Formats: sequence, structure tokens, C-alpha cells
Amino acid sequence: MWWMMGEGGGHYCSKKTDDICGDVCGQESSKVLSMSRIRCILRGLDLKTYLLLFTLIPTCIFFIYVHGQKISYFLRPLWESPPKQFHDIPHYYHENVSMEHLCKLHGWGVREYPRRVYDAVLFSNEVDILTIRWKELYPYITQFVVLESNSTFTGLPKPLFFAAHRDQFKFVEPRLTYGTVGGRFKRGENPFVEEAYQRVALDQLLRIAGISDDDLLIMSDVDEIPSRHTINLLRWCDDIPQVLHLRLKNYLYSFEFLVDNNSWRASVHRYENGKTRYAHYRQTDDILADAGWHCSFCFRRISEFIFKMKAYSHFDRVRFSHYLNPKRVQRVICKGADLFDMLPEEYTFKEIIGKMGPIPHSFSAVHLPAFLLENAEKLVQSVAASVTPHEGFIRQSMTGASLTQLCLMFS
Ligand SMILES: *[C@@H]1O[C@H](CO)[C@@H](O)[C@H](O)[C@H]1NC(C)=O
Ligand SMILES: *[C@@H]1O[C@H](CO)[C@@H](O)[C@H](O)[C@H]1NC(C)=O
Ligand SMILES: *[C@@H]1O[C@H](CO)[C@@H](O)[C@H](O)[C@H]1NC(C)=O
Repeated sequence: MWWMMGEGGGHYCSKKTDDICGDVCGQESSKVLSMSRIRCILRGLDLKTYLLLFTLIPTCIFFIYVHGQKISYFLRPLWESPPKQFHDIPHYYHENVSMEHLCKLHGWGVREYPRRVYDAVLFSNEVDILTIRWKELYPYITQFVVLESNSTFTGLPKPLFFAAHRDQFKFVEPRLTYGTVGGRFKRGENPFVEEAYQRVALDQLLRIAGISDDDLLIMSDVDEIPSRHTINLLRWCDDIPQVLHLRLKNYLYSFEFLVDNNSWRASVHRYENGKTRYAHYRQTDDILADAGWHCSFCFRRISEFIFKMKAYSHFDRVRFSHYLNPKRVQRVICKGADLFDMLPEEYTFKEIIGKMGPIPHSFSAVHLPAFLLENAEKLVQSVAASVTPHEGFIRQSMTGASLTQLCLMFS
């Protein structure tokens, strides 16, 4: 840079500026020198440079403010290494192959009678996805255990949505254990603390529901749905791992946006009294391949999307209030873009770049929960009245394929 020190060290301005501020640059007294050096520098800059500085710097700061999260996510492969690889257990299934043979293919024996199965979830507002879940699992579940709080994980008061819709779940009523827990409403607390608190309450509810040793317990969020045949396999086979994660297909907004096949948080446990604790993090290395579906943010109404965005543990991702604008939400979910305008959370540049941009539409509705196909008409997405019809009326089927065209038409 041209205003840097000259070679001799005695001249603080380069030859070019000597004539502009020569008298200052020539001085030797040190205190005055540093001040005058700045003045000299400033005087040396012309108007264009000022303009450049005063527009470039704020622009840079604004850019970093808006995209800082993106920059750090993009650089994630540099500062975070991927978690330890799972040990994938191949999953064998065909409806016409006997259970004895299927168990044997997995290296397990077959039992004389099946284990009892408990499905336990924390419920927030996912009425439709809970229906799809319970219809899918219904034949093999001994007790459906559901716990609801009047607080979201983010400490906002919420209505007891399950209680309000309980009549829609009559089909599980004889096998239902429903409990509520009062929120603690701690302002500014990390949402994961409230979540952990609710999971402890769920442990108690499970004991009330009568769970005992060697019963199967499904630990997963409402939207992580093991396929029916997976649960049937695990209840019939002997010697299955004590704890087993389930690899699920990841969908976003509806079953027409298949993101990847790598959801892993759901797990199945052979219950051990006094030892098993309800958890939703990594608990073992074993994972069973292709064991169901994880449909995140799968709702029918824009209002439900917005509620979830505010309620969920990553509320910090709502960095700007316009993210919650219904029109924007609709545009984003029709496109398959990101509601929080974030980059894919991956561990290698290859994966990040591969997943950038909207999710491609899937044209397969094969091997989805049966209830979804049987009720495709009813499970169409529709927006809240807050969006004017011509701008915002979406009819996007949760089963995807042909009905997505309607979404495109309105976006
Ligand atoms: C497959 O299963 C169906 C129904 O259980 C049965 O009718 C059919 O005969 C089976 N096919 C074979 C090849 O075993
Ligand atoms: C939440 O539930 C608890 C226990 O039922 C109750 O005491 C509390 O008043 C409720 N709070 C709100 C905001 O509804
Ligand atoms: C997920 O797995 C299926 C096969 O089960 C495959 O056809 C599909 O391409 C995979 N999708 C992605 C996004 O990896």
C-alpha cells in the first residue's frame, strides 16, 4: 500500500504523498507523529477512496450479519469432523417371506410370541403426522404413550392441542396413556433444558403405562415414523441389540421432498427397568437400514408451520421476523427451499454443495405409510386465511407427485 512506511523508516509517507503532507511527514517527535501520521493518511486519500470505504465497509458488515450463519455452515467441514460412523445393519424385508426366515437373515432367532411394544412421544402440535404415525404402527403397539406440555421447548405458552383433538384419536383410545406436564416458562433458557425436563416426565408416564423388562420401547419424535414391518420384525426376533437406532428417509414439508436417507435419531430399546432413559441423541453404534420415514415440518396449514418455527428448539434460526411472514413461508415450502435460509448441515464440502438449492421433487409415492395414500385427498395442504387466496392458496398433497403442480401454479 502506498502510504506504508518508506524504506529508511524515517519517512512515514511515500514519495507520492510527500508533496501533500510533506511538512508533517518530515517531523521526528514521536507522539505528534502517530497522530499526524493518521491525518496524513486521511488527507492522502481522495474522495473516491472515501466513498469506497464508506460503502464497502458497511456492505461487508451487513453481508456478514445476514449471511454469517451461512458462512460458518459452509466452513463447517474445517472446524468440525463428522460423527463416528454407525454400524449399519442390513434390513431384509418382503411381505411374502416368513418371519422365521427374516429373523434368520438378520442373524437373529425367532420368538414363540412377540414382545409388547410401547410407542412414546412428546407432542407439540403435529396432529396430522401423529395420525399417520399411529395408523402405521397401530397393529403392533401395546400402549401409545403421549405427553404434552402447555409450554413449547422455547418457553412459549401453548394450548393442549392433543386434548383439543382427542376425539380424532378414538381408534387408539383403549391403548392410550395420555399425560400433561406444566411448563416451567423460564425466559431465555436454552430450549434443550425444557426438552430434557419433558423427557424425564415421559419416563414416569411410561412406568404408569405399565412398561416392563424386555418390552420394546420406541423413542422418537412424532415425525420420525418407523415402518410397520420394521416394528413387527423387532418384536418377533430374539437377540436383537438392546438398543438399536433406525435409519429413516428424511423428508421435508411433505412426502414429495426426499432430502436424504440419513435420519438416525429414532431408536428402539429393549426396556430395562431402572436403566432405560428416554433420550433422543446417539445412544449406540448399531443402526438398522431403511426402517421408516422422517417427515420434518410436514403440516397442512401455514399457521402450523409458523407455530413450529417459533416453538422448536432451534428458534435462534428465526433471525429475521420476515421469516415468519405467511407468504414467504408458502413460497419457500412450495419451492422446497430452506425456511431459515440456511445451508445444508453437512460435514463435507461435497455434501454441502450437492445439497445446496431447493430439494428436487420426488415422483415416487411407493413404500409410504398406507394411511397417507388412503387419505391423500384429506391430507392436502391448505393455507391459513391470513394469506389472500390468489396469492397463497396452496394445495400440495403430502403424498407428492401430481398435486405438486398446483403448488407451482400459485407460487
Ligand atoms: C404371497 O402372499 C400372499 C398373501 O399372503 C399369498 O396369497 C401368495 O400366495 C404368496 N405368494 C407366494 C409366492 O408365496
Ligand atoms: C400450565 O400448566 C400448569 C399445570 O397444569 C398450570 O399450573 C399453569 O397455570 C399452566 N400455565 C399456562 C400458561 O397455561
Ligand atoms: C434414498 O434411497 C433410495 C433407495 O432406498 C434411493 O432410490 C434414493 O435415491 C436415495 N435418495 C437419496 C436422496 O439419497
